[in-house]
Amino acid sequence: MSQSFYPPIRTLMGPGPSDVSPRVLSALGRPTIGHLDPLFVELMDDVKRLLQFAFKTTNELTIPISAPGSAGMEAAFVNLVSPGDKVIVCQNGVFGGRMKENVERCGATAIMVQDRWGAPVDPQKLEDTLRDHPDTRVVAFVHSETSTGVRSDAETLCRIAKQHGALVIMDTVTTLGGIDLQVDAWGADAVYSGTQKCLSCVPGISPITFSPTAVERIQSRATKVQSWFLDMQLVMGYWGGNSKRAYHHTAPVNAMYALHESLLMLEEEGLENSFARHRANHEALVAGLEALGLSMAVDAEWRLPQLNSVLIPEGIDDAAVRSRLLKEFNLEIGAGLGELAGKQWRIGLMGFASNPVNVNRCLTALAAVLGH
Ligand SMILES: Cc1ncc(COP(=O)(O)O)c(C=O)c1O
Repeated sequence: MSQSFYPPIRTLMGPGPSDVSPRVLSALGRPTIGHLDPLFVELMDDVKRLLQFAFKTTNELTIPISAPGSAGMEAAFVNLVSPGDKVIVCQNGVFGGRMKENVERCGATAIMVQDRWGAPVDPQKLEDTLRDHPDTRVVAFVHSETSTGVRSDAETLCRIAKQHGALVIMDTVTTLGGIDLQVDAWGADAVYSGTQKCLSCVPGISPITFSPTAVERIQSRATKVQSWFLDMQLVMGYWGGNSKRAYHHTAPVNAMYALHESLLMLEEEGLENSFARHRANHEALVAGLEALGLSMAVDAEWRLPQLNSVLIPEGIDDAAVRSRLLKEFNLEIGAGLGELAGKQWRIGLMGFASNPVNVNRCLTALAAVLGH
């Protein structure tokens, strides 16, 4: 007979999910109420307000999608991209490749701007490509490339796209709560994230926000959005501004309690304080890694404080190290993805997991496993 599942208590210092705050876990266990209960509707409103705060936006259409970050990505593309459109996708890692897939599945053409995995997106290349393709409808890029630990200059990329009249889709799955993100000031049109990284929340929800210009584009579409579940015109009826909420799907009620609690924690801490905490723990980790003789994979200017890519030294067995960290120290760090597999580790310091105890735990465990 099967038995109840009791997971071990791990320290999650990979690319996500990251450690969930006990406050969030306890919110998850509160009694389930109906998803159209007036009290749940009030909670939905507060979640929207808190998401606007976290995204630094006044966008009315700012909601949590009831599915993981990939659904946020898909929602941005299926709503803003129509068959026959031209979309520029800037790729400098794994997730830009997924954006291309999304564009093509919308029946649109993806023009790729490629940069080295481990470097930021080059704004000049975007500018040149927009000049070559003045009919571009959307520019898409990943702000924080989780596969490489690289930040791109989102503000500049948004400005260039706007100058050429294109809407911007921006992936901030690993950004939100960890480093600065200014949806309104930068002028991004569809920005999505995930709950399992710097928000210290359980996986499975994707916060998303659409600018008024994006909403106009959605409302003036000539063709139906190909996805029923992610069609924002329908979702708006459930999450929309008026008090009459139409049934669209059954929201993951308890997961919304968890998201609400995690956003409250972010509000209590303050965004700038959260960014400063991520930076301080990152700096301590880098100093410790370098003292162990390890080198960072990304130039200091473009490193993500919440996700640290480290070069695996010659002769070290990547899988064996990670397996010992997990078995002997209950510590998870991330492997390299795609073309970086076997070459880099990715050490997350995200949300609740970004603290000095975790920095020390990771350095001590790595020192032991590497035989220092
Ligand atoms: C940059 C980026 N985009 C999209 C995703 C997809 O999110 P999810 O795994 O929650 O579907 C991830 C997940 O790690 C990510 O890091």
